[in-house]
Amino acid sequence: MHTTVERTDRLRGALRMPGDKSVAHRALILGALARGMQTIEGLPASEDVASTASCLRSLGCRVDVDAGGRARISSRVRLNGEELFAGNSGTTARLIAGLVAGRDFVCTIDGDESLRRRPMGRIAEPLALMGADVETSPAGTLPMRIRGGGLTAIEYRPPVASAQVKSAVLIAGLRAEGDTAVVERVPTRDHTENLLAAMGAVVDRSPGRVQVSGGAELRAIHVRVPGDISSAAFFIAAAVLCPDSEVRIVGAGVNPTRTGILEALGAMGADVSLENVETSAGEPIADIVARSSALRGTDVAGPVIPRVIDELPLLAVVATQAEGTTTVRDAAELRHKESDRISAIVENLRLVGADIEELEDGFVVRGPTRLVGGRVSSLGDHRIAMAMAVAGLRAGGETTIDGSEAVGVSYPGFFRDLESLVA
Ligand code: S3P
Repeated sequence: MHTTVERTDRLRGALRMPGDKSVAHRALILGALARGMQTIEGLPASEDVASTASCLRSLGCRVDVDAGGRARISSRVRLNGEELFAGNSGTTARLIAGLVAGRDFVCTIDGDESLRRRPMGRIAEPLALMGADVETSPAGTLPMRIRGGGLTAIEYRPPVASAQVKSAVLIAGLRAEGDTAVVERVPTRDHTENLLAAMGAVVDRSPGRVQVSGGAELRAIHVRVPGDISSAAFFIAAAVLCPDSEVRIVGAGVNPTRTGILEALGAMGADVSLENVETSAGEPIADIVARSSALRGTDVAGPVIPRVIDELPLLAVVATQAEGTTTVRDAAELRHKESDRISAIVENLRLVGADIEELEDGFVVRGPTRLVGGRVSSLGDHRIAMAMAVAGLRAGGETTIDGSEAVGVSYPGFFRDLESLVA
């Protein structure tokens, strides 16, 4: 499927985002381990979250989701010997691996072609250190067979900054003998520890370290999933880039481990502000208001990277319209996402006339440039499709995005919502 985006001079309106994908995966998975019936409100209709629900059903849980995004998890995991299919979702594969490792189960986890290319050694290693028997393909990828149970606690220092690795270890740690800790050099998103604490796990946190005690039972709660800031980022960037624009995103999650994009845009001179800030189940939520802005280049590197990792392709698009040079470094992890996001964004932005140079661990963009319309490809990656749609709003003529159906992985209604803002 392809979608065409036209140059646009004015975006106006208010939108509520689909629920945060990261929070939704965790609300489902931890709900499947809890005593009682976990209820969730604001579950996104994304394919990735559906993959988590489907893995849990394969594990014998009853997961009911209605059309309004309300979900109930009414029985706990119990089945053994299952084949679990994680689709395109790295979070599903890695967090479910942590769950299975803690049980006396044998399961095989597999995924689609893109997920089969992504590294799984990073979770196989700590889970094996805890005592699970984990076998990946020789390349360290899916399919991965796990025989779990009989775990002992470890203190783990992940060699890569990854919330998925941290979460897999903590979820396995719920079933380990003793206290399992993860020590991070650079902080990553902390939704797992927030939810574990809200559900009654024994969680001990200090800067750079989180510990969970084995054996404590989780208590089911009601989780209100905030709007996904990683989805909101596309409209925030679009409003900042288009003249005569103002867009309000209502009820977005603004957990500080996720707001690196707001900081980077702020450093570029973007007019973005937060209103109506509140907190729900440990997660801060706010309205985000973005307006047309004159932008300058910036440098993004170091500890902020995990807090902006999913928004970096979009930042490259924004940088094409900023005065001066924008450099992103320390982001080699981008090469291990749904696509190699460094080469994907460089290739696509060059096709529409941007001045962008590829680095091993990032990119350099020189702006501002006049983008030209043309034909680009999502390369099967939802965030590349949406980033190029934003580029298309500023390019002359029409921009056609091949493989635009990829947006369904996180945001099936993306193009409809974008259309609704075109005044
Ligand atoms: C996620 C963590 C990040 C992010 C991904 C979702 C999560 O990946 O890129 O989209 O929900 O934990 P890593 O933790 O592997 O960097």
